[in-house]
Amino acid sequence: MAADVRAGLTKPFKELSPRYFYDERGSELFEQITELPEYYPTRCEREILQLHAREICAAAGAPATLIELGSGSAAKTRLLLDAMRDAGCLEAYAPVDISEQITRDTSEAIAAEYEIIVHGLVCDFERDLERIPLRGPRVIALLGGTIGNFEPAQRASFLARVANLLGEDDHFLLGTDLVKDRATLEAAYNDSAGVTSEFNKNVLAVLNERLDCDFDLDAFEHVAFWDEENLWMDIRLRSLARQVVNIAALEMHVAFDRGEEMRTEISTKFARQGLAGIYAESGLEMAGWWTDPSGLYGLSLARPAR
Ligand code: AVJ
Repeated sequence: MAADVRAGLTKPFKELSPRYFYDERGSELFEQITELPEYYPTRCEREILQLHAREICAAAGAPATLIELGSGSAAKTRLLLDAMRDAGCLEAYAPVDISEQITRDTSEAIAAEYEIIVHGLVCDFERDLERIPLRGPRVIALLGGTIGNFEPAQRASFLARVANLLGEDDHFLLGTDLVKDRATLEAAYNDSAGVTSEFNKNVLAVLNERLDCDFDLDAFEHVAFWDEENLWMDIRLRSLARQVVNIAALEMHVAFDRGEEMRTEISTKFARQGLAGIYAESGLEMAGWWTDPSGLYGLSLARPAR
């Protein structure tokens, strides 16, 4: 984290990785985001799973094992596990998350509810992907639109590693928010209750705590806008004053101009055709595609290209 934050804050256009959003408070704020009227992705993804989990399970070849990257509380995962259980194929579930407490709680709950093998893994799934065990046929799931946080090059190498990891009978299930009108997108990241703003600024509190900094959360404001060239929501913190922040753990000072913006997250949006191309470039092929009835969000199934 130290090296990563140092690198991000010494760039001319400063940036922080969205992975630091998710301390206990950040995870709680994200849960609140998922319930906001403006934030549709979570509801849409749940609806797709409610409508199509059986079909998805069949298209994935009735897998024995579900490996879920960034599992969190696994709220929607139960819809997939239920379909796998009903199909008689479910043997094991492996939640993978950076939060040890959440992974422990989720593992215990699923083990009790389903009486299956549960292998919880506490790691950064991007860094530790190849260390995830278990035999096939498996489905590796990355739900919630998390892939949207990856920059194109980072996304391509991640997908190539997934392709490399998948055996012939394995599948990759990916949740992606879809390109749509600016107003809907911008409202989803600028909610009227201000929860997204609080979530965004919380990353500064995480830095204060973990790297002994003195960020003043009130000296920054939340910014989120649709970048139609890059097809992503660009999420930033704007410094409200000229200020110098001390980062004791890194023995450095960081100066912000008044109005200077620092990127804290991108949230890329996709379309079916574009995603098929992205898969192809990484050695994967799309084997299934489902959207919610209003077409706001997509779930796709991929397998190693033959
Ligand atoms: C958890 C990355 C899918 O990009 O929509 C929500 C995070 N940030 N509101 C997203 C987020 C601001 C979310 N993901």
